[in-house]
Amino acid sequence: MSDAATEVDDLKAKAAETAIDLVKPGMKLGLGTGSTAFHFVEAVGGLVRNGLEVLCVPTSEATRAHAEKLRIPLSSLDETPQLDLTVDGADEMDDQLRLIKGGGGALLREKIVATASDRMVVIADGSKVSKTLGSHPLPVEVVRFGLRATMRLIEALSAEAGCEGEIRLRPGKGDLPFITDQGNLIVDCAFNNISEPEVLAFALKRVPGVVEHGLFLGLADLAFVATSGGIKTMRRAGE
Ligand code: A5P
Repeated sequence: MSDAATEVDDLKAKAAETAIDLVKPGMKLGLGTGSTAFHFVEAVGGLVRNGLEVLCVPTSEATRAHAEKLRIPLSSLDETPQLDLTVDGADEMDDQLRLIKGGGGALLREKIVATASDRMVVIADGSKVSKTLGSHPLPVEVVRFGLRATMRLIEALSAEAGCEGEIRLRPGKGDLPFITDQGNLIVDCAFNNISEPEVLAFALKRVPGVVEHGLFLGLADLAFVATSGGIKTMRRAGE
């Protein structure tokens, strides 16, 4: 890891360590996905090793494998349909705690788990905070059937919602596309400026081939953002 990457990783770890204070005995937790959530899972693993009793639902197969290695007790939303708290990273967030997620391809399970939780807390380094969402391409999970037609409709309805930019199928290994844990595809939409995320979210939901999009609106209650100056706590208005 370069010095700069190590520095950012340290910030991610600090954000995760701050969120660990919210974890109490007996809690049912959603475990996020990605390099920031990785640190949170590590910290939960440490607490479990020291005797803390919690039950966790992972948001991806990668997080499940990580949590299993740490012997964190796991459940599913079928067995445990309501969670106390989900802690997850974000690709981008604004000051209203509206998020872009899915850079790691786990947006569908992440959104299902966050929605099933009483609270969603975001952990991030300062580079993730933007005035207006869109500098990170918006991931949209789509079914394979009718892919080209779906991409055309995403383009047309997004344009009506004021968002234009390249819409690209996410590549996977070799010549294959990236496949999500649910067996779907991801298209990444480089809109650059999503001035009305709610309008775009509504438009994307009108596309039948869209399973879910990476705009998380009204889901995150609290964020811990780590910068070289310390941890900034951000709250959604009304929280
Ligand atoms: C996974 O699909 C994503 O939503 C991640 O939570 C998001 O990409 C943040 O990942 P990092 O913490 O690795 O930046």
